[in-house]
Amino acid sequence: MKKVIAIYPGSFDPPTNGHLDLIARGSQIFDELIVAVLRNAEKSPLFSLAERRLMLEALTERFKNVQVDTFDGLTVDYATKMGASAVLRGIRAISDYEYELQMALMNRKLRPDLETVFMMPAEQYSYLSSKLVREVAQLGGSIKDLVPELVEQRLKEKLDPAIKLQHARKAKAGKRV
Ligand code: PNS
Repeated sequence: MKKVIAIYPGSFDPPTNGHLDLIARGSQIFDELIVAVLRNAEKSPLFSLAERRLMLEALTERFKNVQVDTFDGLTVDYATKMGASAVLRGIRAISDYEYELQMALMNRKLRPDLETVFMMPAEQYSYLSSKLVREVAQLGGSIKDLVPELVEQRLKEKLDPAIKLQHARKAKAGKRV
């Protein structure tokens, strides 16, 4: 029987519990799910592409049918390259609908046989976004329960000036060796 491969494209800057919830749901209904991090989605992301990829790989290790990749260019072209027949996207609230509908219909125009499948994350994540997580973390608020512990830790490391300095020193010392 034909395997159904889906891609789950996004910026994931950073991955949140909402993303993880959707990945868990997607992994149940697709034979293979590829979490695809878009390169250059924003000019200055908080986490580099490599950092986001590493976090997602660690977070999805327990799902045997989930892999993580990066892509650029059109989502439809990437889906074709990976042999995917579906694009997974999350819809949290009505406010997401318009943008998601536009994207889904544009993708359909570009590749009519590629289906967009919308899933809803658990309701406790319905207000959650990477943008808000970044903002709250940058302003010193708690992001506990909103992101996995690994992401919380990485955010702390990135935003805490003392830890930042320590990393910079280590990196500098490393270069000299
Ligand atoms: O997590 P995001 O930022 O909402 O994800 C948006 C994403 C990556 C799905 C969208 O920007 C995208 O598909 N970009 C790739 C370029 C493309 O195909 N554009 C046309 C889509 S209609």
